[in-house]
Amino acid sequence: MKRVIFFLGKGGVGKTTSSAALSFYLSSQKKDTYWVSIDPAHNISDIVKEDLREKRQIEKHLFAEEVDVEAYLQNFLKETTKKMKETYKYLQIVNLESMFDILKHSPGMEEYSMMYALKEKIESNMNNFEYIVVDTPPTGLMLKIISLPFSSKMWIEKLITWRKKIIDRRAAIANINPKKIDSDIAITEEEDKVLKELGYQSKHVTFMVELLRNKNQSKMVVVLNEDEMSLSESLKIKEGLEDLGLSLDFVVLNKEGLGKIKYSLEDKFSLPIIRMPYTKNAMDKTTLSNLGQRLSVIVN
Ligand SMILES: Nc1ncnc2c1ncn2[C@@H]1O[C@H](COP(=O)(O)OP(=O)(O)O)[C@@H](O)[C@H]1O
Ligand SMILES: [Mg+2]
Repeated sequence: MKRVIFFLGKGGVGKTTSSAALSFYLSSQKKDTYWVSIDPAHNISDIVKEDLREKRQIEKHLFAEEVDVEAYLQNFLKETTKKMKETYKYLQIVNLESMFDILKHSPGMEEYSMMYALKEKIESNMNNFEYIVVDTPPTGLMLKIISLPFSSKMWIEKLITWRKKIIDRRAAIANINPKKIDSDIAITEEEDKVLKELGYQSKHVTFMVELLRNKNQSKMVVVLNEDEMSLSESLKIKEGLEDLGLSLDFVVLNKEGLGKIKYSLEDKFSLPIIRMPYTKNAMDKTTLSNLGQRLSVIVN
């Protein structure tokens, strides 16, 4: 894989259209491209007019997929519940039977499962495609998804340190009096299921953190229109990324000519600005591919 390109921005500005445009353009240039949407309000299938809940080849060099976010969440909850039951079966104080219902209503689960979905789709396709183009949900949700691997990484590392201390203490107790430690409780790091699980989680989030930090590999593109709202959301995205030590790479002013406000976007972003005019038949593949040519700087 050469690059993953994320299209970010407010709802309705043209994230799906721009991601489609770049994907069709790349495929017209014979670049093997995987176009994936993690927006729960899917609409890449509106452009393709095919069911994309499974990855599907739509052009010679283009595969597309819409992640079924709800199904992913349900599966994620089930898997997490199962793992917790296995890992913590010795803990009587926690009612593991109600775990599924508790998790279901816990804040952040949707974002978490979407982050894993994104990670899994990128990881499993990176060897087969030159480019991965990601259509994302609107600003607030997407910023949460992007920040999750960073905050999780910090917590997981702390938990691993604490867990190792716990195992150390257990081993010390077992050393003095083995009867004090139940036989199914781990006293070495190798046999501890919790530590194993933490290591596994650490791998996932580290993959995302490294991908997002690698400026040769991932590019962040914000899409906006000629209106105040989409401009202010784009600036929020810029700040949100900077808070994580990341940065935007390109600004797409889409539907140019439609709005009343004319900006000097160069002053506001200090980034390359790509302009895409308001175009009739913006859903048509040839029109998209032509629009996409303007986006080719993203992959140069
Ligand atoms: N350059 C453009 N010219 C004309 N219509 C456009 C253009 N870009 C997007 N649109 C239209 O605007 C609407 C919203 O675009 P979409 O790509 O779905 O936005 P988002 O994914 O950001 O919510 C769609 O109906 C789309 O066809
Ligand atoms: Mg969209």
